[in-house]
Amino acid sequence: TGLVTLDSGFGNTAACESAITYLDGERGILRYRGYPIEQLAEHGTFLETAYLLINGELPTVDELAGFRDEITQHTLLHEDVKRFYDGFPRDAHPMAMLSSVVSALSTFYQDSHNPFDERQRHISTIRLLAKLPTIAAYAFKKAAGHPVVYPRNDLGYVENFLRMTFSVPAEEYALDPVVVNALDKLLILHADHEQNCSASTVRMVGSSQANLFVSISAGINALWGPLHGGANAAVLEMLESIQAQGGDVDSFITKVKNKEQGVRLMGFGHRVYKSFDPRAKIIKTAAHDVLSALGKSDELLDIALRLEERALSDDYFVSRNLYPNVDFYTGLIYRAMGFPTSMFTVLFALGRLPGWIAQWHEMINDPSTRIGRPRQIYTGVAERPYLPVEQR
Ligand code: CMC
Repeated sequence: TGLVTLDSGFGNTAACESAITYLDGERGILRYRGYPIEQLAEHGTFLETAYLLINGELPTVDELAGFRDEITQHTLLHEDVKRFYDGFPRDAHPMAMLSSVVSALSTFYQDSHNPFDERQRHISTIRLLAKLPTIAAYAFKKAAGHPVVYPRNDLGYVENFLRMTFSVPAEEYALDPVVVNALDKLLILHADHEQNCSASTVRMVGSSQANLFVSISAGINALWGPLHGGANAAVLEMLESIQAQGGDVDSFITKVKNKEQGVRLMGFGHRVYKSFDPRAKIIKTAAHDVLSALGKSDELLDIALRLEERALSDDYFVSRNLYPNVDFYTGLIYRAMGFPTSMFTVLFALGRLPGWIAQWHEMINDPSTRIGRPRQIYTGVAERPYLPVEQR
């Protein structure tokens, strides 16, 4: 096998150079284009963070207004896109609808197929940012059996999404600034995370010079799995099952430590963070704030707090450097906002979209990019002669 070395899960192999996101897992540092995540979450907005990730600099007042206007002009979906939702079964998972419809955008926009055409890249970027919230809200409406709600141009990005999701003809959704601001902050915290599984997938697919829509669709599918973005839904299911067992945290932890049926403490552990996940720190505080601002108490929050405390004082988790990650507390916030569990990973995708787009642009613009093509260590039979079927 010569110089080929096995690196399962790419734990030690850099696949690209990148100037987008800096992550120091030992010290729990995360920065987008040099800006600490804490400062962006505290003072920034999701749209300016998206602009920052994609363009490299925070926008000026005029640049931000232009960006927002352009996105606003593209929030509507072609009426024919609605027919996809008619075809999906009522119990279709929203992540499957999301990736399918994003892929299908490339059937509607023939001016999206050439990644080297700068104008095409730009318009595809705007269309995706503008339409993903609409696509996500339609997926919610499909499951709820409600008519779709069209976007409104006078609303902000997050406001529009919440209204398209929760308004029904009988009653306009009452936008609550607590919910709007909390969701905006959560989207910022999810906006990029360097070469994670879904971003690497977007780059891998894009490296064959496939268009932006299908590259992002592949990223959405990678995000769906429970070890990646699907963990936010898995955490809630875990908390509910502990609740159903009378809130017995200790016996759940014992099961995890004994690796019974491969059960893991979902929302814990990370490939790169080995001291803490800076996003989780912010989100834990936000979970308290949002629940109390909305006047909601949730027994599941209490179970989560007890689980965390129990795990952080247990040698199994301490010796393996397992800490709460971004997904541990987000589900509780989404639930308090009224989202069903199946939508949690969709919310992650809405947040991660600018990061995927930025990674795709960086890859396309990098002259050293080559098609992604890992090697392997072959372990099969060396060589054997073909036998006709009657001789086997
Ligand atoms: N619960 C119990 N044990 C765990 C956990 C966990 N959540 N995570 C890792 N371990 C153990 C694992 O069994 C192994 O132990 P041992 O050495 O005895 O075999 C050791 O810790 C190292 O784990 P690993 O699987 O080699 O670590 P990895 O870097 O390949 O996996 C991970 C990282 C995030 C997939 C993993 O920690 C995990 O499965 N966590 C639960 C799922 C989750 O919360 N995912 C969200 C990740 S953050 C946001 C995102 O990416 O979407």
